[in-house]
Amino acid sequence: MPHRIPMCAAELSTDSAFKPMVERLIAKYNIEEIVETGTYFGRGSSLIFAKTNLPVFSIECNARHVAIAKQNLKDYPNVSIFHGYSLRRKEMIEFIFEDSISVVSQRFRF
Ligand SMILES: C[S@@+](CC[C@H](N)C(=O)[O-])C[C@H]1O[C@@H](n2cnc3c(N)ncnc32)[C@H](O)[C@@H]1O
Repeated sequence: MPHRIPMCAAELSTDSAFKPMVERLIAKYNIEEIVETGTYFGRGSSLIFAKTNLPVFSIECNARHVAIAKQNLKDYPNVSIFHGYSLRRKEMIEFIFEDSISVVSQRFRF
């Protein structure tokens, strides 16, 4: 089962380990482009990805966040920001539902 990270409105830029980790992964796996879900304001992970000079495709569902991120990343022509959901609505609802059941069943062990 894939590792799932809880959703929150936080920026990764404050994590000093993130940038070197991204650089190591790019070098190790010869990454040619980056696809991101959740641009937020474009000041965290998206900015770190932008500075790699690789093509970056980032999708953000909140229109206000998209507008702010586009402004913050306007100097990076390698970054494309899309307004939308990363998954189809039906798949998101199923994911959230299954994840909730999984969390509850783990907590109460049934
Ligand atoms: C934790 S923040 C992202 C932080 C950002 N990567 C950074 O380092 O600054 C989560 C963002 O993802 C957006 N989001 C959450 N689920 C999404 C989805 N399924 N598709 C697109 N955007 C999503 C939220 O609106 C929010 O702006």
